[in-house]
Amino acid sequence: MPRIHFEHLPTGVHHAVADKTGAIHHVMNASGGMNSGVAAVLETDTGRVFVKGIPVSHPQVGAQRREAAVAPHLPASCPRLYWHLELDGWSLLGYEVVDGRHAYYAPGSADLPLVEVALSELQAVVAPADVEIKDAVDRWADYAPPGTLHLFAGTTLLHTDFAPDNVLIVGDAARLVDWAWPTRGAAWIDPGALALRLMEAGHSVDSALAFAARFPSWREASGEALSALGLATAALWREIADEDGTDWKRSMAGLAQAFCEGLQPRQ
Ligand SMILES: Nc1ncnc2c1ncn2[C@@H]1O[C@H](COP(=O)(O)OP(=O)(O)OP(=O)(O)O)[C@@H](O)[C@H]1O
Ligand SMILES: [Mg+2]
Repeated sequence: MPRIHFEHLPTGVHHAVADKTGAIHHVMNASGGMNSGVAAVLETDTGRVFVKGIPVSHPQVGAQRREAAVAPHLPASCPRLYWHLELDGWSLLGYEVVDGRHAYYAPGSADLPLVEVALSELQAVVAPADVEIKDAVDRWADYAPPGTLHLFAGTTLLHTDFAPDNVLIVGDAARLVDWAWPTRGAAWIDPGALALRLMEAGHSVDSALAFAARFPSWREASGEALSALGLATAALWREIADEDGTDWKRSMAGLAQAFCEGLQPRQ
């Protein structure tokens, strides 16, 4: 959906936000991005806050609610969620501002070790039991080869969307944002998801898989599991590209196929 300026939200929403933050002095609307109707940094009496919001009628409102529910369980590399408001047709999240830039994933980038640290920290987090998040078994059910779905099961908290604009670099740390798809599952799924994004940024299959192998969960995963992940990832992106063949989606489907081939047992 297109960006909507914070100033154009209903007055009742402005009042509700100000009840949380104190008076709002200045609004900086973010320009890029696709999913959030509102994305803005507010300067307020109590400091700055990043606000992300969509209409409650939007199909992604469930993702926004999952993001709010999982927030208290996230590791320190993720910004704190201050509040979640739903009123006058809008769902809004108020976050600690991360003054960063999007991660640069190209081969040799100095950001890669920082991303490794942030994902390593996340790999140690057990998915909360009392929060409605996705399960990897359900998410991969339509894509995993027959008989392999059980391999995706696990208890680790997964992010699963490592698009570089969801990883902000601040000084010498990477911070993971955009928890729209928190998932409970096998720990090696996240290094795999990140590896595909590294390929998108120019890594060869070998280089991307070598990066995944920096994570113990990946090194300890069975060949059968990684082969299944490759096949499932290729099937998922093939479906996405078939539904809407934009250049970017077709290119991702090609990369997913190469990723898959790199994960099949060598004859
Ligand atoms: N806590 C934060 N502080 C500062 N900027 C942030 C914060 N969280 C996210 N951003 C910036 O806002 C952008 C959009 O946020 P996010 O990725 O959470 O939303 P989204 O639903 O993916 O929306 P979009 O598709 O518009 O990017 C991010 O790519 C990032 O640049
Ligand atoms: Mg995002």
